[in-house]
Amino acid sequence: MKPEHYYNPNGEPILDEKIYGGNPTGFVDFNRPRYKWSVNLYDLMNANTWFPSEVNTANEKKHFDLLTDNEQAIYKLTFAQLSFNDSAQEEYLSDFRRLANNRLVKAALSLQIMQEVNHSKSYAVLLDAAGNSDEVFDLYKHDAALNRKNQRIANQFARYIDGNSAEEMLLSAMASVNLEGIYFLLGFSYIYVLGDKVPGARDMIKFIARDEINTHLPLFANIFKTIYKENKIPASIVDKAYEMIQEAVDIELEYGKYLLENYPIMGLTDELMEKTVYNYANDRLNKIGLEPIFEETPQTYLQKLVEKHLKMNDVRSNFFESNVANYAKNSLDLDDF
Ligand SMILES: [Fe+2]
Ligand SMILES: [Fe+2]
Repeated sequence: MKPEHYYNPNGEPILDEKIYGGNPTGFVDFNRPRYKWSVNLYDLMNANTWFPSEVNTANEKKHFDLLTDNEQAIYKLTFAQLSFNDSAQEEYLSDFRRLANNRLVKAALSLQIMQEVNHSKSYAVLLDAAGNSDEVFDLYKHDAALNRKNQRIANQFARYIDGNSAEEMLLSAMASVNLEGIYFLLGFSYIYVLGDKVPGARDMIKFIARDEINTHLPLFANIFKTIYKENKIPASIVDKAYEMIQEAVDIELEYGKYLLENYPIMGLTDELMEKTVYNYANDRLNKIGLEPIFEETPQTYLQKLVEKHLKMNDVRSNFFESNVANYAKNSLDLDDF
């Protein structure tokens, strides 16, 4: 590594630091963000900081033992998959961060990495309380559908991360939009369907969902839009982004339908899962500035459940709304958030 990587007095002015390509000085100056959203999201992530010990898991085993066999299977296979997502995301973010040039976007990614580790810790705390931690963390060895979902997610993460072009960085950002915006969502809603039967799990998921949906997804949506705007991205690359979200929808629904077929629980149907995932995918496409391509239906019961729990957990984001105007005064205001 060259010393300029750490200290580069002849680098470009901080307001010129783009996400892809460039020559940064090496300074992290929160008062001069090129992108206002990078500092706003950093502040919101910080304001949302939480610890697994804030969730009462003392009765988790008692609650878990009262679930039906199918509900227990859904609980275990959900946490087995969600915990993979966070483990993979932590590592992916470290790799993606190395491709980025803008130091304040990198600062937001650093904080996101910390939050993904915190999510991993929270699964460990919860499952330890439920008394099935080793079993759940090892389920990928025994469940072929779980193994397949994890593998397909890993394949999408790995596909473009080694590339060093704006195109490949854009598609790598797409993989993260899919993770934050698609692969978690049915899992969150299963735990909300179980609801009061597993209050510890539900409350833990409320915190995790707030991080993924309110900050990590907007962070990567902004990264995607900005790379797109600042570079000449050919239409063939945008087509690949569409293919990636179609694949993500397929990955999410394949596992969802497997769970439902083998462990049916009240409140879930194939059709409901399909409508839900299609609606989420359209929303994610809108968020990154692309056209929705899936059949759109009114907000589903599962979407409403996820939204309701986001609202119930809104205290710290209200803090953000009332304070955000004070932040990032000197940015170029290149994008909205
Ligand atoms: Fe996470
Ligand atoms: Fe995340």
